[in-house]
Amino acid sequence: MATFSSADDLPGEPISPWLATTGDDDRSVRTLEGTESVDVAVIGAGIAGLSTAIELRERDLTVAVLERDRIAAGVTGKTTAKLTSQHGLLYAHLRAEFGRRAASQYATAQEEAIDVVEDRIDELEIDCSFERVPSYLYSDTPDEVERETDAAQAAGIDASYVTSVPPFERAQAAVRFDDQAWFHPRRYLLGIADELRDDDGAAVYEHTRVTDVEPGSPCRLEMPGGEVTAEQIVLATGFPILDRAGYFARLHPKRSYVLGLRLEGQPPEGMYYRSGDSYRSVRTHRDDDGDLLLVGGENHKTGQGGSTTDRYRRLLRWARERFPVESVAYRWSTQDYVPADKVPFVGRVGPGAENTYVATGFRGWGMTNGVAAGRLLAGLLAGEQPPARTLFDPLRFTPKSSFASAVTENADAASQFATDWARTLLTPGLTSLEPGEGTVLRKGTRPIACSRAADGKLHVTSAVCTHMACLVEWNDAERSWDCPCHGSRFSPDGDVLEGPATDDLPTRRIK
Ligand SMILES: Cc1cc2nc3c(=O)[nH]c(=O)nc-3n(C[C@H](O)[C@H](O)[C@H](O)COP(=O)(O)OP(=O)(O)OC[C@H]3O[C@@H](n4cnc5c(N)ncnc54)[C@H](O)[C@@H]3O)c2cc1C
Ligand code: FES
Repeated sequence: MATFSSADDLPGEPISPWLATTGDDDRSVRTLEGTESVDVAVIGAGIAGLSTAIELRERDLTVAVLERDRIAAGVTGKTTAKLTSQHGLLYAHLRAEFGRRAASQYATAQEEAIDVVEDRIDELEIDCSFERVPSYLYSDTPDEVERETDAAQAAGIDASYVTSVPPFERAQAAVRFDDQAWFHPRRYLLGIADELRDDDGAAVYEHTRVTDVEPGSPCRLEMPGGEVTAEQIVLATGFPILDRAGYFARLHPKRSYVLGLRLEGQPPEGMYYRSGDSYRSVRTHRDDDGDLLLVGGENHKTGQGGSTTDRYRRLLRWARERFPVESVAYRWSTQDYVPADKVPFVGRVGPGAENTYVATGFRGWGMTNGVAAGRLLAGLLAGEQPPARTLFDPLRFTPKSSFASAVTENADAASQFATDWARTLLTPGLTSLEPGEGTVLRKGTRPIACSRAADGKLHVTSAVCTHMACLVEWNDAERSWDCPCHGSRFSPDGDVLEGPATDDLPTRRIK
């Protein structure tokens, strides 16, 4: 069995198969230069942003999509891409906390999203490995599975209680959802983006980072190369880059790890999920080189929880104990944002943010939720009254049990803020850093983030997150600086990689 002590020893290409197989696609990148005026500006070209954009065009509103990186290069390019209504143990929770009607609305939104994706694939002739397969949620607590099966059935899902799965590990019971799907998410979204590019009423700008958002009538967006005015804006940036309704207290970032494995023999036929803190997610992807088994798990709060290299190690050990692993083709990690009450925030941002909408908080289930969010938002922006708007309303009433969890998350971010600053102020100075290592230390009263690249070069930036001033932590597997408060991430040179921060970490000198 392979062992590895640093990220250099980790097997597999450090990229998802979705990004590896679509590369730096040969479409020319269009960056916004100058000014533009549209009905709706959508920030973010992941599944939520592009689904919103295409739905808006179907309602005849003009749209500009503004993306910091490339299309679907964010979380959407690193997902495991199960397109399913099965989102962990959820329907019993929804029924208990929000009621039967809300649980049905949630289920309908997800089931319809799978159909929408299938229809678009047919209509636009997108080749993206879409396949209908069953999805299984398994557990060693049969009561819990029975309750979930019952709640899912009551919500209108084709769900059944089974005892003979999964094929690769013991479990007492599972709930099976039929007619779910898997696909290649980036191929799908490149197809949607092509459709938007060919449309005079739409534009997709890449390498265009929005640095300031001014809600109003009209709204204004600033970016280094220009400015956009829009009647309405949609923040589809993952964690919202503008907070007018306390999102920072109601969402927390969770990072997870995925391996793309080649097996000796056939991979399992369905999609599998074991819920809980040490969740595992398993699916197959059929690519040009054969079948890949995708195994995900090892989630933790971004910027907290120790070595990330160890998480890959544990995941590989788990996979080897259950599957005849021939080789590791890919390894990657990414993060999603978890709302305390488990329901995404889709709708108006909140008070003081006129004409501004948001789609976030998919808690690891954004393939259907992102598509559903696009439908809901486009309806709202076009003046319709979609029935699910109350359930997903970002300003909704939060049930009591979820409120308690939100308070805990907020307290966690605050305590992280305080302890990190205190710890760093006690750190005396730079000890010897090996290639691939990073540490935060004090220079005078300023915390600085020092890391050493594989070639031995030292990189030094401010260690103070440009979002809300928490101190960043070194991520040894991804070689990045990750913020434990709301999940912003930065390269060793300080460039924003993801999260709500819009400004890079400034460079510092060590002497
Ligand atoms: C390990 C893992 C596995 C998962 N597997 C599944 C799965 O099997 N099924 C499922 O349903 N869900 C899954 N998810 C969740 C799902 O991938 C996400 O919920 C979904 O991709 C989020 O889409 P999004 O459009 O909101 O975000 P993103 O895809 O991250 O898109 C946001 C975009 O906004 C851009 N952006 C951010 N800030 C700015 C700015 N200032 N200016 C311009 N652009 C900006 C980013 O570059 C990014 O491209 C998984 C999540 C994780 C972490
Ligand atoms: S992400 Fe909010 S303080 Fe860093």
